[in-house]
Amino acid sequence: MSDLVRRSLEVFFHPCAQMQDMHDLPPLEVVAAQGVWLELADGRRLIDGIASWWCKSLGHGHPRLLAALQQQAQDFEHVIAANTTHQGLVRLCERLLALANGQPPTAWAAAAPAGKLPGRLSRVFLADNGSTAVEIALKMAIQAQAQWGAPQRRAFACLAGGYHGESIATLSVGNCDLYSAPFRSLMFPALRLEGLPLRTGPDDPRWLDASSEWPALEAQLKPQADHLAALVYEPVLQGAGGMRLISPDLLPRLRSWADAHGVLLIADEIASGFGRCGPVLAGQLAPRPVLPDLLCCSKGLSGGVSPLSAVCLSEEIYQAFWDRYESGKSFLHSNTWTAHALGISVANAVLDVIAEPAFEEHCQGMAALLQAAWRDLCRSWPCLQGVRGVGMVAACDMCGLADGRRWGREVFRAGLAEGVFMRPLGNTLYVFPPLVINAEEIEQLMRAYGRALSRVIGPPPGR
Ligand SMILES: Cc1ncc(COP(=O)(O)O)c(C=O)c1O
Repeated sequence: MSDLVRRSLEVFFHPCAQMQDMHDLPPLEVVAAQGVWLELADGRRLIDGIASWWCKSLGHGHPRLLAALQQQAQDFEHVIAANTTHQGLVRLCERLLALANGQPPTAWAAAAPAGKLPGRLSRVFLADNGSTAVEIALKMAIQAQAQWGAPQRRAFACLAGGYHGESIATLSVGNCDLYSAPFRSLMFPALRLEGLPLRTGPDDPRWLDASSEWPALEAQLKPQADHLAALVYEPVLQGAGGMRLISPDLLPRLRSWADAHGVLLIADEIASGFGRCGPVLAGQLAPRPVLPDLLCCSKGLSGGVSPLSAVCLSEEIYQAFWDRYESGKSFLHSNTWTAHALGISVANAVLDVIAEPAFEEHCQGMAALLQAAWRDLCRSWPCLQGVRGVGMVAACDMCGLADGRRWGREVFRAGLAEGVFMRPLGNTLYVFPPLVINAEEIEQLMRAYGRALSRVIGPPPGR
């Protein structure tokens, strides 16, 4: 253990970790990061196989994002977002709304004309992290329902296996007990829909068909219909809940049901959005266009360079807050770093990059390679089950191995020796690399995974 790592363990409390583990598997000293690569003080280079908690969509050190950051820092780094506005902020909101409303990239590309286009989502509330974005959406839903004259609509529905952040409210609508168990006494009850149409990906014959699960889901919603303010869900990809894939056909079904019952839909695209699942938003995988009432994004929105999150909302919701100040109907939510100007400048540069046809082509090509390579890798070990994937995310579960060992952690440790940073979710292995990864790097990533697996569970049988 280096002196720096020893000093780090004296002072730094790592996120989402048992600190005792850190003595056995010490933190890595990073000295540089470029593209998909992390460079360590001991000279090792690791592929960032999970895009640094899923946010480095365009990789580390992207020159266009850094240029935007530097330019903005020269003008001003940040100013209070209450009572001020600026060029970059207005452009980002206009572009983000066009993107969220399903307009083609030409409508939100760098060269797109200024101004707002019509669409269901018509305003943007900015914040600085994903949990806060979801919390804002939950608060807006409750307050809007009350201001529409339905104060009894105070409950939320959510999906089993969902994850929406770390605040008490977002834990309440999530379903990752590992993270939320100590706080159960503070959490509010939410209707958790069980029996989801889980699928393996676009090759699954029932990918675009949730008809067999829908009646049971609808039956769970029915008794609560008059009390629900909103239903919150991760479209298609449930990230922290185990990289599970849900039939995109669930989305139009939820939309029709919500419209019929006066319930708002909150789509959490924080992990699934910005090209991860193929289209710019995972919700666009639905068999017919579906828009939520509130849409949350973060992570890839600012490429993991500078914190930013956004909630796009419908005009109807916006109007629920529109009145004289004395009415008490204002949305009086604020965070210091709301609409941070550096994050905004980077997000505009992210949109510039991802709107370019060459980027979409690159992602399509790499997604096909990644999915094929992952399936090949998983075929080699019978204990790798539940192989699934879409776009630039793929996963499987390690099954049937002896109890009492933290297999995922062992594979993670072996991966560090073999050149990949993977951090499995329990015994769920997955890849979620920066979208800028190239073909050679995908091959390197898979080979490193394979060597790590061989170290822990032995070479593939028959070889
Ligand atoms: C779907 C989803 N929602 C919300 C969050 C919370 O975002 P943050 O970590 O920025 O608070 C995450 C984070 O992983 C996420 O994956």
